[in-house]
Parts: sequence; C-alpha cells; structure tokens
Amino acid sequence: MIITIDGPAGAGKSTISQEFAKVINYDVLDTGAMYRCVALLKKESDLVLNDAKLQQDILNMDIVFQNNEVLLNGKNVTKEIRTAEIDIITSVEVSPHYFVRSEMCNLQRKMAEDKNMVVEGRDMGSNVFPNSPLKFYLTANANVRAKRRHDQLLEKNIHRDLKELEREIEKRDFEDMNRVHNPLCIPEGAHIIDTSDLSLQEVLQKMLEIFQKIS
Ligand code: C5P
Repeated sequence: MIITIDGPAGAGKSTISQEFAKVINYDVLDTGAMYRCVALLKKESDLVLNDAKLQQDILNMDIVFQNNEVLLNGKNVTKEIRTAEIDIITSVEVSPHYFVRSEMCNLQRKMAEDKNMVVEGRDMGSNVFPNSPLKFYLTANANVRAKRRHDQLLEKNIHRDLKELEREIEKRDFEDMNRVHNPLCIPEGAHIIDTSDLSLQEVLQKMLEIFQKIS
C-alpha cells in the first residue's frame, strides 16, 4: 500500500514520514530529495533544463537512499542538496519544469512499485499516487515553520536570520502553489493535520489512529 504525505516546506513532513514509516514498518521515499538532486545536476552542469545533454543526465540519474543519506551517481550529496541556493533552484527552476516533473513522476511510481511505502512530497496524493487509500496533508503557519528551520540549522551551527528564513519559506510556498504543472494543493480525500501547535509524538499519534482505522 502507498501512503502519501504532502505539504509545504517545513511542515515537518520529512521527520514525520521517517518516524511514521518506522512504526508501521513501511519504506519511505523523500521525493523532495529527488528534485534537489536534479537541481544539483543542473547547477554543476551550468546548462538549461531544455538542454538535451542535461535531460539525458536526468534520465540516467542514479539516486540511492541509504541510512538517511542520499547518493547521486555514487556520490554522497546529503549536505550539498540542502543548501539555501539549492532550495531556490529547486523550487523556482527545477520543479516547475514539465520534463523534470514527468520524469520524476515515472521514477517515483517505479520506485514504489509493489512496495508498502510512505511517499512524501508536494504532489504525491494529487498527481503521482491519486489512488492511494490513505493521504495526509501536513501544514503549519509560516512563522512556526521558519522557527523550526532556524532551530534545525542552529543545531548544525548555522546561524540564519529568522525573518529572512520566513521570507524564503513564503517564497517557496508561493512558487510551489502557483506553478502550472502539479502545484502543491490539498489532495482530494486527504487528512489535514495542522502541526503548528503539536509535538512530533502528537502528530504521529493522530496519523497512527487514522492508519489503524483503515487497516
Ligand atoms: O521537500 P523539500 O523541501 O526537500 O522539497 C524541495 C522542493 O522540491 C520543493 O520546494 C518543491 O519545489 C519540490 N518538490 C516538488 N514535488 C515534490 C517534492 C518536492 O515539486 N513531490
């Protein structure tokens, strides 16, 4: 069975997907990391996304998820794909591109084939797996999301201005919600959870209750 989790940047999707999948013994697929890998390929090649060579590299891309690390064509890119620069290239240039979206969609369906998998992203329940029997949409207000990102970065000794982070998050929300192809939206039938005032455990509890009802 495929369980979809969508929502805006910083709503807690990644951590919650990992924890939820662990508890129910499912695999997990972080589709944002896949778009980020395309952004890294683009940045390193210095080519436009319509370029045939870059498109071939995207088709040949080998992405492996291994113990919370991301390997792109054999190289560990876990940190490189999480910079502020890659955040923006991904949401402004890469994820709106039709070729990229359709290839990512094909690849995601292939990676999830015949698996019990929690898939996390922006268009999982609305576009890639519209027939999923269990869909979640996690959200939180921009201020809370910026604060979470601020604290995560601080743990890594990276100091960022909270207001600036909030502006970046709002920009990514705007780009993700307003693109032409498969924008971020609440999928039909999704369970909406606002995580602004909830702890990780409280969100997990809600999701597990819903999961147990349908299984
Ligand atoms: O989830 P994460 O913040 O890593 O995603 C990075 C970007 O990838 C998002 O801002 C969005 O532009 C794009 N994305 C997407 N569709 C998905 C997953 C991510 O467009 N399914």
